[in-house]
Amino acid sequence: MNTFEILEKAKKEGYAIGAFNAANIETLKAIVQAAGKLRSPVIIEASDGEVKYIGKKQLVSLIKIYKEEYNIPIVLNLDHAPTFESCKEAIIEGFDYIHFDGSQLPNEENVEITKRVVELAHQNQIPVEGEIDHIQGSSAYHKDEDVKKEQKEELYTNPQKALEFVNETSVDTFASFIGNAHGLYSTEKKIDLNLLSKIREALPNKFLSLHGGSGIPDHDIKEAIKLGIVKINVNSELRVAFHDKLKEVINTSDEIAVYKIMPEVIDAVSAVVERKIKLFGSEGKA
Ligand code: G3H
Ligand code: ZN
Repeated sequence: MNTFEILEKAKKEGYAIGAFNAANIETLKAIVQAAGKLRSPVIIEASDGEVKYIGKKQLVSLIKIYKEEYNIPIVLNLDHAPTFESCKEAIIEGFDYIHFDGSQLPNEENVEITKRVVELAHQNQIPVEGEIDHIQGSSAYHKDEDVKKEQKEELYTNPQKALEFVNETSVDTFASFIGNAHGLYSTEKKIDLNLLSKIREALPNKFLSLHGGSGIPDHDIKEAIKLGIVKINVNSELRVAFHDKLKEVINTSDEIAVYKIMPEVIDAVSAVVERKIKLFGSEGKA
């Protein structure tokens, strides 16, 4: 199955595919381990920083090997790509999905670059995700902050503008901002499900993604999937699981063989991914 077919199946059957950031190779191992165990399709997200750290060629090669090993659909996505050039390089290297994020550019420039990315990606049968409203926050643990400070309603997506953008660019997936700020906070994220249903009505033929998946209550996630979300991005919860378990293991043991330390850390991250896959309804859909 190509990425279009993987997303189409999720849309038709009413579940979402988890899109998990691979901060390093251990996190990548944790994600595919969970998806393999639960026989779920999965999207591996690699942001600019993560791509620089792991390497484009290395990511593509590892994903190819994991696809063969686990025999499940694994999509490699360039996450929040900031330039046309980074998208082009990823397409040439063999990524399966591209998310160009021009939300901080003037609208005309965002439209123009998104269009060029779509043109190139479609020649290679690769879908493109785009956005117009910058998703606030950052994928970190903002433990002393209330998420409300990142949820300014005047910055939320306007369904009419979303429709204009997808018509002008022909993007396949639209990422909206409906309160889904990036990161984990001291409070749960309340997302605007009413607005999401209006965006769905405006874009019935497009795929919809939900970024900022960490810290959104389970019942809101389930409602968002019922309203047509087919891709949910999760990063911060994985980072916290990795960090906390690594700290615990290092503080309680003198082991210096790293390969003996890491399995526990990988399992902690994998447990988070397993929980999300079950919540998103993609278990057994591989
Ligand atoms: O693109 C990545 C995500 O939207 C992750 O958001 O850190 O809130 O899970 P998160
Ligand atoms: Zn995001």
